[in-house]
Amino acid sequence: MDTPSSFQTDALIAEDIDAYLHQHQHKSLLRFITCGSVDDGKSTLIGRLLYDSKMIFEDQLAALESDSIKHGTQGEEIDFALLVDGLAAEREQGITIDVAYRFFTTEKRKFIVADTPGHEQYTRNMVTGASTADLAVILIDARKGMLQQTRRHSYLVQLLGIRHVVLAVNKMDLVGYDQSVFDSIVADYRSFAASIGIEQFTAIPISGFKGDNITVAPSANTPWYGGPALIAHLEDVEVDAAAAQAQPFRMPVQWVNRPNLDFRGFAGQMASGTIRPGDAVRIVPSGKTSTVTRIVTFDGDLDEAVAGQSVTLTLADEVDCSRGDLIAAAGDPPQASDQFRATLVWMDEEALKPGRGYWLKLGTQMVTATVQQPEYEIDVNSLEHLAAKTLGLNSIGVAEFATDRPIAFEPYAANRELGGFILIDKFTNATVAAGMIDFSLRRADNVHWQPVSISREDHAGMKNQKPRVLWFTGLSGSGKSTIANEVEKQLFLMNRHTFLLDGDNVRHGLNRDLGFTEADRIENIRRVGEMAKLMTDAGLIVLTAFISPFRAERQMVREMLAEGEFIEIFVDTPLEVAEGRDVKGLYKKARSGQLKNFTGIDSPYEAPENPEIRVNTVDMTPVEAARFIIQQILPLK
Ligand code: ADX
Repeated sequence: MDTPSSFQTDALIAEDIDAYLHQHQHKSLLRFITCGSVDDGKSTLIGRLLYDSKMIFEDQLAALESDSIKHGTQGEEIDFALLVDGLAAEREQGITIDVAYRFFTTEKRKFIVADTPGHEQYTRNMVTGASTADLAVILIDARKGMLQQTRRHSYLVQLLGIRHVVLAVNKMDLVGYDQSVFDSIVADYRSFAASIGIEQFTAIPISGFKGDNITVAPSANTPWYGGPALIAHLEDVEVDAAAAQAQPFRMPVQWVNRPNLDFRGFAGQMASGTIRPGDAVRIVPSGKTSTVTRIVTFDGDLDEAVAGQSVTLTLADEVDCSRGDLIAAAGDPPQASDQFRATLVWMDEEALKPGRGYWLKLGTQMVTATVQQPEYEIDVNSLEHLAAKTLGLNSIGVAEFATDRPIAFEPYAANRELGGFILIDKFTNATVAAGMIDFSLRRADNVHWQPVSISREDHAGMKNQKPRVLWFTGLSGSGKSTIANEVEKQLFLMNRHTFLLDGDNVRHGLNRDLGFTEADRIENIRRVGEMAKLMTDAGLIVLTAFISPFRAERQMVREMLAEGEFIEIFVDTPLEVAEGRDVKGLYKKARSGQLKNFTGIDSPYEAPENPEIRVNTVDMTPVEAARFIIQQILPLK
């Protein structure tokens, strides 16, 4: 699924957009976003743009006219808002809910406008729409002037790297087209904009409803205004295609095209730069170099291709290069790193879990990333930095993250495509965050893997066994420790080299700084996983007895180990039984409220869906359970 935006994941939208772009190939494209709320007249303005650019077919117009009259929202005049506020439910609620992409063309240019709702609870929608936009129209109601939401929208526009800003002071008709009203709003905005790093903007006094300064300027009502009309400005504004072309060459590889043994091409859309046959290129992150032999397209070979074009490159050498790699100018490749600082916009109902592994998708690269506790959260209204332990829906924060292998990138400020990414929940597949890389922390660059002479195979061979991790999971009091202990005893009698890591014990030493919050439990399991892995490197059969309540972390440990090495053993004791045993008296404390975050009571336990082994402790004694487990892991060599 390759979409034009790194943030946008809806393939259908991408297909629509592709089809549209194809229809108007010869015209340049401007993507823009409108920021404002229904009250500011946003839908009316977009309706007006569509109407004035004659993109509405006549029968639609007729329907609109009768609709307007039926709804009677604007007297006898056409209610342009009805054009865009398509859904009946939205009309009733008076708000626009999702990101809608609307297409229109004029003589000079084609446009895609992302229409996103302006309310704070829709920050994620705005971020989605804004991530590909070249320009933002910030709407202000002339009667109200700058509002908190104007600040919030402007901040997001700046954050998402939109370099062209139009301040559309709307509803000028309702303030008698008074120049002093316009001037004072513009002055207010200028000082605020400068404070957040927006250096330039174009202010236009308009009435979306009456049509002033939309297509032709100046309107007879604003003789004091000497600037362009909104559409004229949108047609003429220079988008940054030239800037992207001037940067060094980069192309993320979308797929390897290998129709037969004689042809091997690397297909992708050029993120920046210019390329010609004969140019030297470098594959990132492997660092291998080669030379471009051909630039292949549907319409034949090219002598040159530039940023934005989709091409297939063939190289002079048989270099390793696959989807997710990046082909770059040999002498000026991008950095690759596995530790970063980024700004994140959280888009999921479920808050960020620091330490958890998420899929990170940056262009065509897909890796596992773990995000640390945020350094701070940004209050989108006051722009203050607040202390934060996590990030909830629609919040924005700055955090460090690490990936499981290096990725090629550019800071977002330099290149939106190579610096913007999304995070995806590994279980629900939902896009949970949009992120912008600020910079690489480059710590890992100075810590290299030390080659060792005695391999893990040597260690295991010496012990004459196959190392594994027997990962016991289950509620407190389920019998994990007792059974694990029994398994270890039996293995010991079979001359196996084992080691048992037990939750209660590890929490007295290595993990004594950790408690029972979600974040601490995630870190607990991460450390135990790393330790278990080291012990398998040493050739041991490791047994672990931790509640390990979250599927994601058990999965993370599974992924750390070689195929077949992780054996998940679900000690499947029902809560009533574990609570009835209450060996340590902790359930009693938890029920009475003396102990917080207790698993099964006020903290969740996510049972394994497909454990390698499930033991029932109601019908089996611990010794029987241990025998049952050992039988299933034989042979041990
Ligand atoms: S885990 O959730 O992070 O995997 P772990 O297995 O290390 O937990 O520790 C669980 C043990 O800590 C329990 O067997 C119990 O003795 C003790 N404990 C103390 N407080 C809690 C709590 N709030 N929830 C669960 N176990 C607790």
